[in-house]
Amino acid sequence: MPEKTQQMDIGVIGLGVMGKNLALNMVDNGFNVAAYDLDALKVRQFLSQFDTEADSRKHSVRALGCESLNHLIEQLSSPKLIVLSVPAGAPVDGVCHALIEAGIESEDIIVDTGNSLWTDTVEREKRYKGQFTFFSSAVSGGETGARFGPCLMPSGDEKAWQRVAPIWQAISAKVDSETGLPLERTSAGEIVETGDSCTTYIGGAGAGHYVKMVHNGIEYADMQLICEAYHILSKGCGMSATEIGKVFEKWNQGRLNSYLVEISADVLKQADPETQRPLVEMILDKAGQKGTGLWTAVSSLQLGCPAPTIAEAVSARAISTQKSLRVSLSTKLAGQDTTELSLESKQQIINQLESALYCAKIASYAQGFQLMAMAAKEQGWRLEFAEIAKIWRAGCIIRASFLQSITEAYQQQGDLAHLFLADSFAKQLSELQTDWRQATSFAVLNGIPTPCISSALAYYDSFRSETLPANLLQGQRDYFGAHTYERIDKEAGKKFHLEWSSQSREQLEL
Ligand code: 6PG
Repeated sequence: MPEKTQQMDIGVIGLGVMGKNLALNMVDNGFNVAAYDLDALKVRQFLSQFDTEADSRKHSVRALGCESLNHLIEQLSSPKLIVLSVPAGAPVDGVCHALIEAGIESEDIIVDTGNSLWTDTVEREKRYKGQFTFFSSAVSGGETGARFGPCLMPSGDEKAWQRVAPIWQAISAKVDSETGLPLERTSAGEIVETGDSCTTYIGGAGAGHYVKMVHNGIEYADMQLICEAYHILSKGCGMSATEIGKVFEKWNQGRLNSYLVEISADVLKQADPETQRPLVEMILDKAGQKGTGLWTAVSSLQLGCPAPTIAEAVSARAISTQKSLRVSLSTKLAGQDTTELSLESKQQIINQLESALYCAKIASYAQGFQLMAMAAKEQGWRLEFAEIAKIWRAGCIIRASFLQSITEAYQQQGDLAHLFLADSFAKQLSELQTDWRQATSFAVLNGIPTPCISSALAYYDSFRSETLPANLLQGQRDYFGAHTYERIDKEAGKKFHLEWSSQSREQLEL
């Protein structure tokens, strides 16, 4: 018989990279953890790391490895709190059903921390009502974030949140309340007890996973934008990976300061242990994806909320995977040869590109925030955008200094219809747009694909256009499908139709 011990604070099911590190983070912060994984080896590895780190911990705390789900739920006092860290999709329901069989009760709380599709989360909350409270909390920050402070996006039953909140506030990343700068911890046992926690109750069921999905859409765009800058500097300016790494390192000291620029610099400066060449040159140019960026793009299309930079980032990954077709077409289709640049021209491109990257970054975050606003309206969620921008300042993958400016923009005006309307961003975009165009033109004229930088610029130009050619489009629709049009000189909403094919219609003479 498994040994029955004093009750534990929380159960963690799934001890893969994320689950194990979340559990160790909880332990660092003084919570007693009962842990279980189908794979007994993972349970042993968790316990062994728990033992190894014992001396560095500030709290006296217990961790228990469980042999079964029954064993795990016996360790928890009611209402039981259990965190799932299992792959999104069927495994979540698999564990939920197994927990029902093991005797979970209606007041118990199960928190799904995977990258679940938000509509699945909405369904699950309904499905398990009466059997237990299905709560969700999206997690961002990867392995290191989970271990030393992730960004946590919880949503669902508010009573369940009261129970989860103390743990979430303790284990999440922290930022200095005054400056908004991350208060980082990097070693086992270390904890940060001051500052703002990078977690906040996001809203009703599914809201947290929706917000995390959009975070990932922005992540895709951010990553692709950086890759395009690398491509321009490498192909267009003839710079080595190490040189570009240094440029990124410099950019990271300024307004582009962000985790993704920082790690991109590291990746570019890394030597391949086998060939001693830059490792990035030895990595195959085919990008993978698990689907969250695609979900964001699909949602934006469904809601009629444009997020072209995010959609282009998804397509860019898809095109990258068609390597053999690209290889065939590389010798069949003409492009433009790049010419050697003077040092002065090269520096000019680097400067313009820095502005372009910053502007395109603003555009992609603006797309994400507008998308969340539209989804919130449709779903009846009351999303607090200043809070969302605030919790993204540390712990998550898209953490960036400029999220402080987004926070301030929404603090000044909570119902801001679009980030471009914020004075600070409107001013910066207006000042930098010429550089953005120059950098984009340089890429286009040199045949370097920049789907995200270019689409973000088109997005900017579209939104600053008082008139767009959609008048002609409405004419076309009415011509072939009698879809009607509105007139600029008549009341809004009144529909008109012309019999375009009629012989008698009037034509303008030149
Ligand atoms: C995070 C990340 C994390 C992961 C995504 C994206 O916020 O910690 O977004 O969730 O990196 O799954 O993965 P893909 O690039 O494979 O889609």
